[in-house]
Amino acid sequence: MAFLDEIRRRRTFGIISHPDAGKTTLTEKLLLFGGAISEAGAVKSNKVKKGATSDFMEIERQRGISVATSVLAFNYKNRKINILDTPGHKDFAEDTFRTLTAVDSVIVVIDVAKGVEPQTEKLVEVCRMRKIPMIVFINKLDREGKDAFDLLDEVEQKLGLTTTPLSFPIGMGYDFQGIYNIWEKKINLFSGDSKQKITKGVEFTDISVPELDEMIGKKAADTLREEIEMVEEIYPDFDREEYIKGDLQPVFFGSALNNFGVKELLDCFIEIAPDPQPKQSEERLVDAKEDKMTGFVFKIHANMDPKHRDRLAFVKIVSGTFKRNVPYLHVRNGKKMKFSSPNAFFAEKKEIIEESYPGDIVGLHDTGNFKIGDTLTEGEIVNFKGIPSFSPEHFRYVNNADPLKAKQLYKGLDQLMDEGVAQLFTLELNGRKVIGTVGALQYEVIQYRLEHEYGAKCTYENLNMHKVCWVEEGENKEEFKEFKRVKQRYLAKDKQGQLVFLADSAFTIQMTQDKYPSVKLHFTSEFK
Ligand code: G4P
Repeated sequence: MAFLDEIRRRRTFGIISHPDAGKTTLTEKLLLFGGAISEAGAVKSNKVKKGATSDFMEIERQRGISVATSVLAFNYKNRKINILDTPGHKDFAEDTFRTLTAVDSVIVVIDVAKGVEPQTEKLVEVCRMRKIPMIVFINKLDREGKDAFDLLDEVEQKLGLTTTPLSFPIGMGYDFQGIYNIWEKKINLFSGDSKQKITKGVEFTDISVPELDEMIGKKAADTLREEIEMVEEIYPDFDREEYIKGDLQPVFFGSALNNFGVKELLDCFIEIAPDPQPKQSEERLVDAKEDKMTGFVFKIHANMDPKHRDRLAFVKIVSGTFKRNVPYLHVRNGKKMKFSSPNAFFAEKKEIIEESYPGDIVGLHDTGNFKIGDTLTEGEIVNFKGIPSFSPEHFRYVNNADPLKAKQLYKGLDQLMDEGVAQLFTLELNGRKVIGTVGALQYEVIQYRLEHEYGAKCTYENLNMHKVCWVEEGENKEEFKEFKRVKQRYLAKDKQGQLVFLADSAFTIQMTQDKYPSVKLHFTSEFK
């Protein structure tokens, strides 16, 4: 197949949701349609089970699963679909943010009864800021839930989206009969009391016809007609360009568990979702159709076997064709590297590939050369933007608990930080190391992994901090000097050597900013 056709047929996306909204179930149903798996239950949930903080087997299980489900690829109607896994647990939110730098679009899953939940809000905000095209799937329609219009309102208010329903439920919960597919002008009905069977879609280009009354009953038919009229009045027409620009979000209704509304979602998704998009680098905008290969690392996964400490770096191909055994420039360290066994991912297996195209993810075996955000090219100096660090929310000093294993400890910490498990800061004043994380769970993960993979032991000491801010010097050299002198005890370097200010409260940040107006304090590491 020609290079451009390969690009056009790729759809690389992530599914985001609050835990339990149905992300795993929906993923599984999509894979079933793609013929990538043959039975339900094949996709393991990547959820950290409740109470997992003290259950390290659970952490290992979770890590194992997250390798297996990192990228789930399948073919459907001549499209190559790559689903990138995004952990739902809030303690792993950073992983999800980074994965979102590698997707071309997302599907947001919302529970019809629970509506918009906190984790959805956070993740959608990131997508909105980055203008990532989003489709909303309202799930669990087989249960009693909120009224469809109220939900659409909630999605608009809480998530700041502009919605346009492309399907609409006929009843809900006990009275749920099926879906009117606005996109294809078809009605799909459940059949049988168990709601397990689905009649084939019946085309209804005009829902005013009396046949509809016969099919779903007069009351339901009238309600549907009214509702569709309202939809047409209230919501903007679907416009693909607006959707791709991130300004309009189509909404589908269904029940992933009952496999209802999923095919409609998938069939529409492959039509409207964007193929691999251009990506901004510090130097220039890189287009997928360029023939020279570029790609970047968005995720690193350590091998779980301590005897083989190689890691798998996940590279999103941005442009050109990635080839096995061809030397590529590792831009950060200026070295050429070639890869004899790059992995491609399919439903639940990975295999060595010869070539990969824009939109695809390749897994490269790594012995410690890669960091998150690293770029590979055919020689050009390109640094892809968009993988910033955000301020952690928990801070602890880390101490070496075994003086004979200092080297192992620092190596372990170094590598875990490269993987993006947490962030390490070194205090300017005394060189003490501080680990910052998004969730408390990471501290236990780090302690456990240091011991099991690196043979090192650490202890923690609490550090009461609110946030770190990345510091930008500004024009006034004297003021910067004064800031550094006064705040000496609260200054540290991050792992890239950037200066950060550890603030114990939002008030301190405000006061500091007022006192030293030329010194800029940023909440993410990427501000230039
Ligand atoms: P997540 O990945 O977003 O965290 O959610 P997941 O798919 O694991 O789904 C969470 C729970 O919601 C599961 O039930 C799942 O079966 C259920 N579910 C998903 N889609 C639907 C739906 O359309 N209708 C209904 N009624 N339930 C749905 P569970 O009891 O927590 O797990 P399990 O024991 O069934 O696996």
